[in-house]
Amino acid sequence: MNTLPGIQEVIIKGLFRDSKIIIGGSLDKLGKYIPKSNVIIITDERVHELYSSRFPAFPVISIKRGEESKNLGTIEFIYSKLLALNADRNTYVLGIGGGVVCDITGFVASTFLRGLKFGFVATTLLAQVDASLGGKNGVNFSGIKNIIGVFNQPELVICDHSLLKTLNEHEFLSGLGEVLKYGFIGDPEMLDYFKSGEFIGRADLKLIHELVVRSVHIKKSIVEKDEIETGERRLLNFGHTFGHAIESAHGLSHGMAVAYGMLAAIYISEREGYLSQEESNRARVIILKSGIIKGVKINLEKLQTQFMADKKRSGNFLYFVLLHSLGNAFSEKAEIGKVENWLADWVNWEDAFTLEKD
Ligand code: GLY
Repeated sequence: MNTLPGIQEVIIKGLFRDSKIIIGGSLDKLGKYIPKSNVIIITDERVHELYSSRFPAFPVISIKRGEESKNLGTIEFIYSKLLALNADRNTYVLGIGGGVVCDITGFVASTFLRGLKFGFVATTLLAQVDASLGGKNGVNFSGIKNIIGVFNQPELVICDHSLLKTLNEHEFLSGLGEVLKYGFIGDPEMLDYFKSGEFIGRADLKLIHELVVRSVHIKKSIVEKDEIETGERRLLNFGHTFGHAIESAHGLSHGMAVAYGMLAAIYISEREGYLSQEESNRARVIILKSGIIKGVKINLEKLQTQFMADKKRSGNFLYFVLLHSLGNAFSEKAEIGKVENWLADWVNWEDAFTLEKD
């Protein structure tokens, strides 16, 4: 169970740059992949405390941990540090951390001096399966998630699974939420790992490696078809339309909020006649047994307020991702009013969070 899996290299082909993903790589072997000089590291305080002794010997900019840091204030702080460190057009910016560090690093590197080369060492499961991959780098603004940002692929992503052992359970489960998403939208076999309801542990590096590899391949196949999200890439937002609102309204972890959002999307897929009742029940059981959801009472009013705030950028409609079957997702262009009704119907459905029927 504890044997270290081998390395798998995957290339995500981008419009302007390819991204090399080293799955099962190691922080200690980083030197093989980055320049020998003129590198600046961006990390957060916790990763710095835990792992800085293993960082290569380059200047480090450390930010506060957590979603609250994902704002323009932090970006300005890093720009000042880059100026003080005399960063130039040949500087390579390396983010070592989870989703927030990846987003911030990608945004800073893409805008400072009109764009520097950059890469990531992804230290959380969420970052290894999602946040570090695909080239979206953004920050929150005015209470809206990821509303300011760029598409720009990192040159390198290293997914070192051994770093996951210092995640707390909450953070680990958050990553599993995104793993489940990949199962629902494109790899139904992956859902088998969640069927028994047995907790997927961080110590099982072989299984983690397998789940990361499968997730990266789904993301690669979608991003390569639609890097700047004009169509197919919307599928990656499965569970995210309500998930983002739930995350902000209830202060949940991203993956847990996405798991709630997926429950809602599954309910709506069945109600609209796209997904059979049998498949819908199967999907619901998988999520509810996964341990990702921990009995948060969803408050419809709070959620509606947040959803309305989020929707301002979408005009009168949005693309909502639904399922035809497990592993087969599609996006539907839906009127905002209709989506609001879906939200209320789901929250008011008395069986929304129970396994009683199954
Ligand atoms: N960086 C996250 C994404 O592109 O989806």
